[in-house]
Amino acid sequence: MNALEKKFAALAADAAPGQEVRQDLSGVQAEMMGGLLSGTPVDFSHGDVDAHPPTPGSAEVWQNGFKAGGQQAYTEYRGAKEIREKVALRLTNFTGREVNAKSELIITPGTQGALFLALGSCVTSGTKVAVLEPDYFANRKLVVFFGGEVVPVALKFSGQGDENGPNLAQLEAAFQSGTEVLVFSTPNNPTGVVYSAADIAEIARLSSEYGVTVIVDQLYSRLLYSNETYTHLRSDPSAPKNLITIMGPSKTESLSGFRLGVAFGTASLIERMERLQAIVSLRAAGYNQAALETWFNEPEGWMDTRIAAHQAIRDDLVDLFRGAKIEVTVPQAGSYVFPKLPPLSVSSEVFVKLLRIQAAVTVTPGSEFAPGTGDSIRLNFSQDHEAAVAATKRIIQMIERYKA
Ligand SMILES: Cc1ncc(COP(=O)(O)O)c(C=O)c1O
Repeated sequence: MNALEKKFAALAADAAPGQEVRQDLSGVQAEMMGGLLSGTPVDFSHGDVDAHPPTPGSAEVWQNGFKAGGQQAYTEYRGAKEIREKVALRLTNFTGREVNAKSELIITPGTQGALFLALGSCVTSGTKVAVLEPDYFANRKLVVFFGGEVVPVALKFSGQGDENGPNLAQLEAAFQSGTEVLVFSTPNNPTGVVYSAADIAEIARLSSEYGVTVIVDQLYSRLLYSNETYTHLRSDPSAPKNLITIMGPSKTESLSGFRLGVAFGTASLIERMERLQAIVSLRAAGYNQAALETWFNEPEGWMDTRIAAHQAIRDDLVDLFRGAKIEVTVPQAGSYVFPKLPPLSVSSEVFVKLLRIQAAVTVTPGSEFAPGTGDSIRLNFSQDHEAAVAATKRIIQMIERYKA
């Protein structure tokens, strides 16, 4: 393989969420045991925006953007000024530290776009980047794509609440051996672990002490379940000088179809991100930026109802898995569960394919999130409640069927 072929082989997306439809499933037929389990098909690889519709008013404000014409179509590369001003104020209130709309915020095509620009702004050939295992699948791919070196740091997720979190000794060792960048998500995708206040304080202290640039993906920080607390790294008094926080309205608010995200933090990094955006997409889709009008501006009580609906699904799914003696961590936030499969008579890659063929259920293999979590599967439970419960029962039946 030549260098380019190698680079793109590392970006293989066949098992990535949403791409499963492209897979050829014929190879696994020979390993099939038993018949089909009937039920409504459920695609747990991403949320169902029909079951949990976009924020009320988003279609109307989007149309207002369209009607605004040229000024909305051709915004500054970092996004329309008036929209940035509103969003900056809301993010200031949400995170507890001022966001300067002029210099510290950029609107991007999805949170994914923000991640690409953020890592592109601080990773180059040979840059060592601490990546949590498990964490969002794009993080490691982006580091490799930009020529960086992944320095793995373990995330404990098998305990309860604050017992879970990053291995801080490993993190410090990584910093001591020349790691210049840290990227992580909290709430964590795929486990739903929320980093504790103590862990965030220690990450702030260590990254400041070692001069590390931090990218924190807080995409799910609004979907926080009852009795959980969230700590924003950027509002810690020892927050590192180079810090980018990433969020977006794709998940809790179901605005994924607009492909909107934001990054906010250190002005010099935002400046680089804008220069990079200028050669990637110029800007986030101009008309779509208008949909941000609804973000952090939802109707009274709407967010509480949305969180309660997800918490009820979470509770049912966790009960079902635990009732079948399948290990699973209770997600503190977000809409992912990450149950661990018992030893099976087929590989977990084959099992995931058999789930699609025999049970009409799509899940994401755990190997997408870290080399060591191939025996887990990830479900995005932002689904129709009843269909999600029925599909989880089918997953459990399939696990029983294929148990080693
Ligand atoms: C942690 C995390 N970051 C980023 C993204 C990308 O989100 P978006 O749809 O806003 O691009 C996802 C999507 O699953 C995610 O889970």
